[in-house]
Amino acid sequence: MYPKHNNMYQLKNNFSLKENNTFAIPAVAKYYLTLETPADLYGFFQNNSSLRNEKRLFLGAGSNLLFVHDFDGLVIHPQIGGIRIVKEAQNHVEVEVGAGVVWDHFVEWCVNKGFYGIENLSLIPGNVGAVPVQNIGAYGAEASSVISRVKGIDLESNENIDFLQKDCLFGYRTSLFKEKLKEQFLVTSVNFQLTRKPGFKIQYEGLEAKVSQFGEINLQNIRRAIIAIREIKLPNPAVFGNAGSFFKNPIVSALMAKSLQEIYPEIPTYPIGADLVKVAAGWLIDKAGWKGRIVGNAAIHENQALVIINKGGATGEEIFNLSKLVAADVLQKFNIELEREVQVL
Ligand code: EPU
Repeated sequence: MYPKHNNMYQLKNNFSLKENNTFAIPAVAKYYLTLETPADLYGFFQNNSSLRNEKRLFLGAGSNLLFVHDFDGLVIHPQIGGIRIVKEAQNHVEVEVGAGVVWDHFVEWCVNKGFYGIENLSLIPGNVGAVPVQNIGAYGAEASSVISRVKGIDLESNENIDFLQKDCLFGYRTSLFKEKLKEQFLVTSVNFQLTRKPGFKIQYEGLEAKVSQFGEINLQNIRRAIIAIREIKLPNPAVFGNAGSFFKNPIVSALMAKSLQEIYPEIPTYPIGADLVKVAAGWLIDKAGWKGRIVGNAAIHENQALVIINKGGATGEEIFNLSKLVAADVLQKFNIELEREVQVL
């Protein structure tokens, strides 16, 4: 437990979440709580014990959420800051980062310091607290390979817990915190183990060529290249609301992938182990003819079919309904079920 502490939390009632989700859906939260330190949460529940049993939602930057209703419960939004080197060795460095830090600020900080490991994850929207939950990944890199610890509060047992990497049950866009401990364990900070020795990952389709446009292969140029690729393919949420990839890339049997390849030799596939293959959902949706299609105020993005955008004034339901049309069509055409990456509330 924490010693006596000046509470820095703020509670608001009937709070519009429009600025707190990148789809820009004007859903209203019954209660909206911001915290500046982990101890604020204990202080808050001491003073508001009746809110303990409310339905909960942990909110970062809201870049992976779609509200189809108002939120009839307690939204907890940690705004815990701080980037702190906690261990330094000749080849490695361990850095503890507060849950409320904007992910890309931390990536930029690492690139400027010469710390390797997360440059491929440049410009991913969101806050650090969501990084282990979602196990963010892009361009051949995944956060789980550099996370060493995840610290937070278990709201059922009311305890601080410090999870080591091996106990986080990381998977493709998932973890213990997204499954068993969903809306139970609030991440307050994350430790990253980064290296000081160059170790680049530039095998991803087109990445090396893009880096060479900026000059030699180094941290700054990889970051520049990733940002350039993302800016071409992915819509800026400040212009068109979106949550990045709406679906996960489906994982199918090697047998199924082989039969798809016989019909579509160009289909992008990524083997994972001997018997399973990841298939590019964006390609399936594109091939099914959805790229650029507009339905009401929602649309499939014209440069990346895995992304659904708010053309302006879309309701959450409109976006959700479009995703259902797309998934049903992909199922019918390819016999593959798409699983959503975005959390629908
Ligand atoms: N493709 C198409 N048409 C499309 C979209 C993609 O043919 O409309 C093809 C591409 O040509 C490429 C393949 O599908 O051969 C894969 O496309 P891309 O490289 O754009 O990556 P992705 O598999 O669609 C994943 C992540 C992205 C991440 C990129 C880059 C998931 C669900 N998505 O997308 O993550 O940025 O790889 O690594 O794993 C996110 O999670 O929000 C996200 C944007």
